[in-house]
Amino acid sequence: MSKPVRRIGVFTSGGDAPGMNAAIRAVVRTSIHLGIECIGIRRGYHGLINGDFIPLDFKSVSGLSRRGGTMLYTARSEDFKAKEGQAKAAATCKLLGLDALVGIGGDGTFRGLLCLAEQGLSVIGIPGTIDNDIACSTYTIGFDSACNTALECIDKLRDTIQSHERCSVVEVMGRHAGHVALNVGVACGATAVLVPEQEVDYEKDVVEPIRRSRLSGQTHFMVIVAEGVEGGAYGVAKRITDETALDTRVTILGHVQRGGTPTSRDRIAATYMGYEAVHLLSEGQSCRVVAKQGNEYTSFDIHEALAMTKGLDPQTYTVMRTLTGVQ
Ligand code: F6P
Repeated sequence: MSKPVRRIGVFTSGGDAPGMNAAIRAVVRTSIHLGIECIGIRRGYHGLINGDFIPLDFKSVSGLSRRGGTMLYTARSEDFKAKEGQAKAAATCKLLGLDALVGIGGDGTFRGLLCLAEQGLSVIGIPGTIDNDIACSTYTIGFDSACNTALECIDKLRDTIQSHERCSVVEVMGRHAGHVALNVGVACGATAVLVPEQEVDYEKDVVEPIRRSRLSGQTHFMVIVAEGVEGGAYGVAKRITDETALDTRVTILGHVQRGGTPTSRDRIAATYMGYEAVHLLSEGQSCRVVAKQGNEYTSFDIHEALAMTKGLDPQTYTVMRTLTGVQ
């Protein structure tokens, strides 16, 4: 029988994502509801090593759901990768009287949690990243907001490329995955969408769709490129200019996609996931990642979750290929 959880530490780690604050709020308020104390660890694993924490009560998370970023700050800690850093972090947890940790982030965050579980802590991960690249979960906190932010920018770009009859090549985030590019590409009605999951055939995937679109009377073109595609947006733009002589402009959307007010979808997913994480701990569970599968919230063993792989949604991919006219 595992010992009851009395004090939880919650932290965010890796790249921030809109909705992380809503998850923190849910963890704190669910803990209070279950009679568990909750403290916030600031700056991810870096803060755990240095004992950087703040007490969190009902009021301190009031109005947090609508705020972008993370009130607990975040970091990518190099020190925690070493055994010494992990031992220091475990010592901090002991000093702070923590029985459990809830880490909000990506795969790196979950791997870190496993190191601390080895030191006797109960740990739960919550998938928070705009990349939507956590294999065990169909959804990660921040994805919808990031896609909407990218779309808003792309709609604005379309006005100007339409006026100038240009080709716009827009690079979106996603690290090694193309989920953001694919969704944004379908939603904005792109001429072509390039993702790292699929080897790029320039003639077939970019030049032909542009030519076909041109022949149909279109005078401006929108090409969406995931940042993980070899050569990136500049490489793609050069190929387009060389092959079609179109007046082409590159826009790298970058970190703007990580900011802003979280959408309703992100606030709700984050709230459910935070709620679920604390319930798992109160039931005596540990080493699990909260996940969304369709409309259901569930959880996976962290080892199992880290071993899983995730491809692009096949239906969305087929729709994109059909609508861009790629054979
Ligand atoms: O994982 C989220 C993400 O925004 C990726 O899409 C991107 O590749 C990376 O983080 C950027 O990281 P940083 O904030 O360290 O520049």
